[in-house]
Amino acid sequence: MWNDLQAHHAKVADRRFETLVDADRAADFTAQAGDMVLDYAKTNIDTEGRALLIELLEKAGVAAKRDAMFTGQPINETEGRAVLHTALRNLDGGPVLVDGADVMPGVLETLDRMADFAAEVRSGGFAGQGGQITDVVNIGIGGSDLGPAMAVKALAPYHDGPRCHFVSNVDPADIAGVLRGCDPETTLVIVASKTFTTIETMTNARTAQAWMAEKVVDTGAQFAALSTAEDKTAAFGIDGARVFGFEDWVGGRYSMWGPIGLSLMIAIGPDAFRAFLRGGQAMDRHFQAADWAENLPALLALVGIWHNQICGHATRAVLPYDNLLSRLPAYLQQLEMESNGKGVSMDGADLDVPSGPVVWGEPGTNGQHAFYQLIHQGTRVIPCEFLVAARGHEDDLHHQHQLLVANCLAQSEALMRGRTLDEARAKVADTFSGAELDRQARHRVFPGNRPSVTIAYPQLTPFVLGQIIALYEHRVFVEGAVLGINSYDQWGVELGKELATALQPIVEGAQSAANKDGSTAALVDFLQRSGV
Ligand code: F6P
Repeated sequence: MWNDLQAHHAKVADRRFETLVDADRAADFTAQAGDMVLDYAKTNIDTEGRALLIELLEKAGVAAKRDAMFTGQPINETEGRAVLHTALRNLDGGPVLVDGADVMPGVLETLDRMADFAAEVRSGGFAGQGGQITDVVNIGIGGSDLGPAMAVKALAPYHDGPRCHFVSNVDPADIAGVLRGCDPETTLVIVASKTFTTIETMTNARTAQAWMAEKVVDTGAQFAALSTAEDKTAAFGIDGARVFGFEDWVGGRYSMWGPIGLSLMIAIGPDAFRAFLRGGQAMDRHFQAADWAENLPALLALVGIWHNQICGHATRAVLPYDNLLSRLPAYLQQLEMESNGKGVSMDGADLDVPSGPVVWGEPGTNGQHAFYQLIHQGTRVIPCEFLVAARGHEDDLHHQHQLLVANCLAQSEALMRGRTLDEARAKVADTFSGAELDRQARHRVFPGNRPSVTIAYPQLTPFVLGQIIALYEHRVFVEGAVLGINSYDQWGVELGKELATALQPIVEGAQSAANKDGSTAALVDFLQRSGV
């Protein structure tokens, strides 16, 4: 199959896909889930290419793998675990069995406990030593930070609870900066860690505990924990009433739908949080029911595979024309790169195609004034993914929103069309002549023929955010299933953690750096002489 796709690509690679994009193609290469659309007409994928991509997906057994995921089979084979973040948003679905036991009663009970606690924090029924909680500090890293931090930002128009802050980095500048703005007597600290062993999080949690102890008599009363390791939360001194547990079948980067989303729930309230879950659940149903040619997650994955594994474009820019989604690229970096940045397939054999792409991005229009130069005229092709809402939340400034939308559409059009040398010459013909006209014109040529997709939706509500995040989760799933990799482990983060633990006493000066490589030893020496 890969060979067929490569052969097809070789046939069409030099064509200008702009010539394909008429109204029929726009309709044919747009898919819809609820009121969200994915337009992938501005790519070089044609009906033959799409058919080959869908055949690739079918031959990889994606449907069976999808069903295995939703029904709680241990598809995370290297860790022997089910992958069931979908159960966390299965609000009115049927039972979900893991080892013969229905997990839904436990999921719904925890959700209710979270909702009760969030409501109490928001109303003042749960208070700190100094009265009503004014600030919530979520301490977590990776999946225990990026999801809720991204979503609290994304749903700022719905934020009517206490202020929420996120501390992740072990760099003391992070926690010091946040705590400086909080009153310990009215702050709730949430320690979010699936394992409750992550060194950054536990270090920051102890720092927060010491900070609070300077003013608060019973610090434990103002701490909550989100974890699968309830023995460890108890050892840390957090009362079981404020511990919200989950199971190991929820991966860290897929965990914002459950207890790890507590800070989001406190910010926007339980009803809005449930609307977020319903959006995710709606995308689950679409993913399970829609034909592949109409299936948003599958199409997004196949477009990605076309661009990365077939065309060889190693990176993908995610460009939300929705400032509320400014942390989406960071969130997707973990979701996509920790999931599909793997070099071996499930059975341990080397992959014979590249692994998932480098994902990066910034909100438009800011990116236009920073790195779009390279996207338009650089020598590498960077497939772009635009996200845009029809409406913002600032009705009185709708004209600004229209300008934002125009910019978004202009970018995908410019990437596709480009500007020819003749067009560039015409632009500067009044100013230059002769050889100088030619030289100046060449700098103004845009190669065009650069692909993009656009995801459009009416407005970024909690429901729509749930749709977007579940869309990306399932896209990662399909891509991983086609590549035959395990998208749900992350062994690649381990080596650095082990070496950091070994280096700590060396950096502190308690051990010699003599057995380290020359570069590391020299850096330790420089940093020690400079005061580390
Ligand atoms: O960096 C690896 C990782 O395990 C991520 O997968 C995870 O989201 C993050 O660390 C935090 O882990 P925990 O929630 O257990 O503290």
